[in-house]
Amino acid sequence: MGKNITQNLRKMLKLYLLFLFLAALAFMGLQYLCITTTLVFNTVHPRIIGPLYPYLIEEPSKCGGDPPFLVLLIPSKPQDVLIRDVLRKTWANESLVLGISIKRIFLLGRSFVNNTEVSVEQESSTFHDIIQQDFLDTYHNLTIKTLMGIEWVSRLCPRASYVMKVDADMFFNPWFLVRQILQPEKPLKLEFFIGLVARGIPFRNKDSKWYISYEMYSNNYYPYYCSGTGYVFSGELSPRIYKEAMRLAFIPFEDVFLGICLARMGVHIYKPASKWFVGEKAEYNRCHFTRLVTVHHYRPDELLKLWPDFLKALEDCTG
Ligand SMILES: *[C@@H]1O[C@H](CO)[C@@H](O)[C@H](O)[C@H]1NC(C)=O
Ligand SMILES: *[C@@H]1O[C@H](CO)[C@@H](O)[C@H](O)[C@H]1NC(C)=O
Ligand SMILES: *[C@@H]1O[C@H](CO)[C@@H](O)[C@H](O)[C@H]1NC(C)=O
Repeated sequence: MGKNITQNLRKMLKLYLLFLFLAALAFMGLQYLCITTTLVFNTVHPRIIGPLYPYLIEEPSKCGGDPPFLVLLIPSKPQDVLIRDVLRKTWANESLVLGISIKRIFLLGRSFVNNTEVSVEQESSTFHDIIQQDFLDTYHNLTIKTLMGIEWVSRLCPRASYVMKVDADMFFNPWFLVRQILQPEKPLKLEFFIGLVARGIPFRNKDSKWYISYEMYSNNYYPYYCSGTGYVFSGELSPRIYKEAMRLAFIPFEDVFLGICLARMGVHIYKPASKWFVGEKAEYNRCHFTRLVTVHHYRPDELLKLWPDFLKALEDCTG
């Protein structure tokens, strides 16, 4: 009897030690994996949790109350006052889609010219739709600008259902996006990311506008990404994208950079069922435009001109 018990105890002890040994091996393996992946992707930024640069204009209560269905993040330059004015009167009007709460945010960096700062402050106190961080507003800082928007949503609008980043030189149809794609009456789509899917290779020629060094990005191809002209994602992804971004070297092409983040997060880009996001200039066609989300590219004067007719088209064109 007593002998049996000690034998059983010994057996259990052996099993226990084997288990500990395997657990330790698995742990070490994981550590090794983490180290190699960070090495491959050049971690240069410390893991900042908050904003990358101090906010000059933050609008912390823009998203107070009931969470919005859609947040529009629109990159804009401080001096582009007239363009913002046109967008407020056309597709960036927050009350276009009946019963749907939309919040519009213009993303600004710091300008080089002093008096635009003054006018931005005035404009901001009138419309409360501008956020601005203290980084230079340049083409190569566009990744920082997009990340500012994503940080803002993560922290100050964390329960927004969906977020759209859309360029200011676009035609955008919020009705089609909300009613036909996002469909507020249906359950929230999680890990959802949609847009004009693109694929590209890193340019290694130093004269190219899209030059990228091997140190910044060493693979011979970029993962699939959505063109920065207009992409939409579930709000729940915002803090996850921001966290992933903070682990990586910032590639100056914000759309490619987000694609890299998504690939590392294992998030798949949703393929549009039809040509909902148009990458090339398409002639205005009232009924066709009621069945798509974005068209590249439209100037403010073109937008102002077509908008009244487009509002009518939404009623005239069916099916
Ligand atoms: C925004 O849209 C609403 C609803 O269509 C309209 O009443 C309002 O005048 C528009 N605002 C601007 C600035 O155009
Ligand atoms: C902006 O203002 C600062 C200090 O007020 C001044 O030093 C600088 O020269 C100004 N820059 C321009 C472009 O006017
Ligand atoms: C981006 O902004 C930072 C902070 O203002 C500035 O130091 C840097 O020169 C800018 N980078 C580019 C490429 O313009």
